[in-house]
Amino acid sequence: MLMRPSILLSLVLLSQVLRTECRPANTDEAPQWAHPEKMEKKLHAVPASKTVKFRCQASGNPNPTLKWYKNGMEFKRDHRIRGFKVLDHVWTIIMESVVPSDKGNYTCVVENQYGSINHTYQLDVMERSPHRPILQAGLPANRTAVVGSDVEFECKVFSVPQPHIQWLKHIEVNGSRVGSDGVPYVRVLKTAGLNTTDKEMEILQLRNVSFDDAGEYTCLAGNSIGFSHQSAWLTVFEVPSDKGNYTCVVENQYGSINHTHQLDVVAMAPQWAHPEKMEKKLHAVPASKTVKFRCQASGNPNPTVKWYKNGREFKRDHRIRGFKVLDHVWTIIMESVVPSDKGNYTCVVENQYGSINHTYQLEVMEHCPHRPILQAGLPANRTAVVGSDVEFECKVFSDPQPQIQWLKHIEVNGSRVGSDGLPYVRVLKHSGVNSSDAQVLALYNVTEEESGEYICKVSNYIGEANQSAWLTVTR
Ligand SMILES: *[C@@H]1O[C@H](CO)[C@@H](O)[C@H](O)[C@H]1NC(C)=O
Ligand SMILES: *[C@@H]1O[C@H](CO)[C@@H](O)[C@H](O)[C@H]1NC(C)=O
Ligand SMILES: *[C@@H]1O[C@H](CO)[C@@H](O)[C@H](O)[C@H]1NC(C)=O
Ligand SMILES: *[C@@H]1O[C@H](CO)[C@@H](O)[C@H](O)[C@H]1NC(C)=O
Ligand SMILES: *[C@@H]1O[C@H](CO)[C@@H](O)[C@H](O)[C@H]1NC(C)=O
Ligand SMILES: *[C@@H]1O[C@H](CO)[C@@H](O)[C@H](O)[C@H]1NC(C)=O
Ligand SMILES: *[C@@H]1O[C@H](CO)[C@@H](O)[C@H](O)[C@H]1NC(C)=O
Ligand SMILES: *[C@@H]1O[C@H](CO)[C@@H](O)[C@H](O)[C@H]1NC(C)=O
Ligand SMILES: *[C@@H]1O[C@H](CO)[C@@H](O)[C@H](O)[C@H]1NC(C)=O
Ligand SMILES: *[C@@H]1O[C@H](CO)[C@@H](O)[C@H](O)[C@H]1NC(C)=O
Ligand SMILES: *[C@@H]1O[C@H](CO)[C@@H](O)[C@H](O)[C@H]1NC(C)=O
Ligand SMILES: *[C@@H]1O[C@H](CO)[C@@H](O)[C@H](O)[C@H]1NC(C)=O
Repeated sequence: MLMRPSILLSLVLLSQVLRTECRPANTDEAPQWAHPEKMEKKLHAVPASKTVKFRCQASGNPNPTLKWYKNGMEFKRDHRIRGFKVLDHVWTIIMESVVPSDKGNYTCVVENQYGSINHTYQLDVMERSPHRPILQAGLPANRTAVVGSDVEFECKVFSVPQPHIQWLKHIEVNGSRVGSDGVPYVRVLKTAGLNTTDKEMEILQLRNVSFDDAGEYTCLAGNSIGFSHQSAWLTVFEVPSDKGNYTCVVENQYGSINHTHQLDVVAMAPQWAHPEKMEKKLHAVPASKTVKFRCQASGNPNPTVKWYKNGREFKRDHRIRGFKVLDHVWTIIMESVVPSDKGNYTCVVENQYGSINHTYQLEVMEHCPHRPILQAGLPANRTAVVGSDVEFECKVFSDPQPQIQWLKHIEVNGSRVGSDGLPYVRVLKHSGVNSSDAQVLALYNVTEEESGEYICKVSNYIGEANQSAWLTVTR
């Protein structure tokens, strides 16, 4: 492409201005964990006198700083009789010869001017004497499931004398959850046997859950010293369906007859469980944030969910830090997003009776101002009959305060374009002191003359963006 030297020069100057004000993302980077998979083991239960190391290896540009906290307060060497070592170059804190008073939550905070991330390790120091079992905090975790699906609860147990693990379900007896002795009524669902390993016992699997499975579950671990237990709740929700008895009644002045038909819907194509929660399609987030997209659905049989990025199946190795899919809550989680995560994320939910999909658009905003971003697909084309009311909507994301204008293309002397090549437009609405929600344009009692193209134009001091839609008014 040929360019006039003056244009080329101004482009070069412009790009230099942009570069100095806002360097590209591959040089500035919010901190990210280098090996998140090595940080998954959060609870460290060690015998007294051992050496403990916690590591929080991260990258970022500029190189982030590392700070350690114990139980939420900055951890200083004089907080510990024997002090501790911090090896900054390997992002590690070392405590030698731990004692019970070292128990607690150790948090590393890694930050530079573009972001801050943190991670907490839980340290439990087991005295030399035997100790009752220790359970990892937060496990088992609450679960939600659709009738007919499978669910897992997990319990992490640390115990020096071999533990005995049981899974219990709280039940009601004669309408009461607690006996006269104050002890809750429970049923044992799973108990360690000759053949079971501790690993197997740490998981409770429930298959094909029904409403009766809803309730409180407890992981109980005991050894020769004592017991520990933690609980979680299972919430089961119904597959909405049209199951039921339909009665038609035919009547006249002489009487009435009726017929009841029993409809038993066993098969159901997938449908969204909470479409209202999926209305926010464009997610514009600052770099380094965690992003979750959810596509909760029901169907019979229970549908599967698959995720696509920009129309292609999304695989963990497409993203440096991978992602997590929590199938039981229909959610995909991407931690610490970077600009290359921008794109369209589609969930496809299907069973043999149907397939539905939903697309979320992710924008990752670098930590510098940018021109406005408009949600794709808005405003949307509208068709209306003469005399009805119509709304156009435009969804705007802009860090600097945006100016919003609604324009309509018009004809002047039979021409849509002026002698300067620019289309003729009329401003219908603009953001300002006394305009209501500028992201919505409402037209009342429309006439055929109001058919045509409507434009949402948004600008801030960096630049502008616009999208348009057509109104068709019919008799
Ligand atoms: C450590 O964190 C766990 C889980 O967040 C919490 O249950 C526990 O009380 C914390 N311990 C201390 C000493 O703050
Ligand atoms: C750790 O990160 C979480 C979530 O990003 C944040 O809410 C919390 O304040 C952070 N904690 C510290 C000590 O920086
Ligand atoms: C788990 O669910 C129970 C009952 O609904 C609730 O009381 C509790 O706060 C939940 N726990 C967490 C960590 O969300
Ligand atoms: C439940 O109620 C029945 C009848 O009232 C009684 O016979 C039974 O002992 C009760 N069970 C318990 C566990 O209290
Ligand atoms: C133990 O496991 C083995 C192999 O998995 C199986 O053949 C055996 O029947 C099991 N024994 C008991 C008592 O469950
Ligand atoms: C699930 O349970 C229901 C009733 O509780 C039963 O009719 C159905 O056959 C079960 N499905 C599977 C796959 O086991
Ligand atoms: C429909 O009618 C049948 C037979 O009268 C009855 O057994 C069933 O419980 C009814 N179902 C509902 C949802 O009312
Ligand atoms: C249907 O007819 C029966 C008797 O023929 C009557 O008892 C019942 O009330 C009717 N039901 C309706 C919904 O009209
Ligand atoms: C995402 O979808 C929108 C609207 O369908 C489209 O304009 C945009 O180009 C898509 N982005 C990518 C990266 O495919
Ligand atoms: C999503 O649904 C639309 C309309 O139902 C369909 O045309 C499209 O092929 C689906 N996309 C995927 C990836 O399944
Ligand atoms: C909206 O209407 C215009 C004009 O009829 C058409 O060109 C365009 O493809 C339509 N857009 C959508 C998303 O249907
Ligand atoms: C709608 O517009 C027509 C003419 O354009 C007018 O006669 C009518 O009164 C209007 N109706 C309302 C409810 O404003």
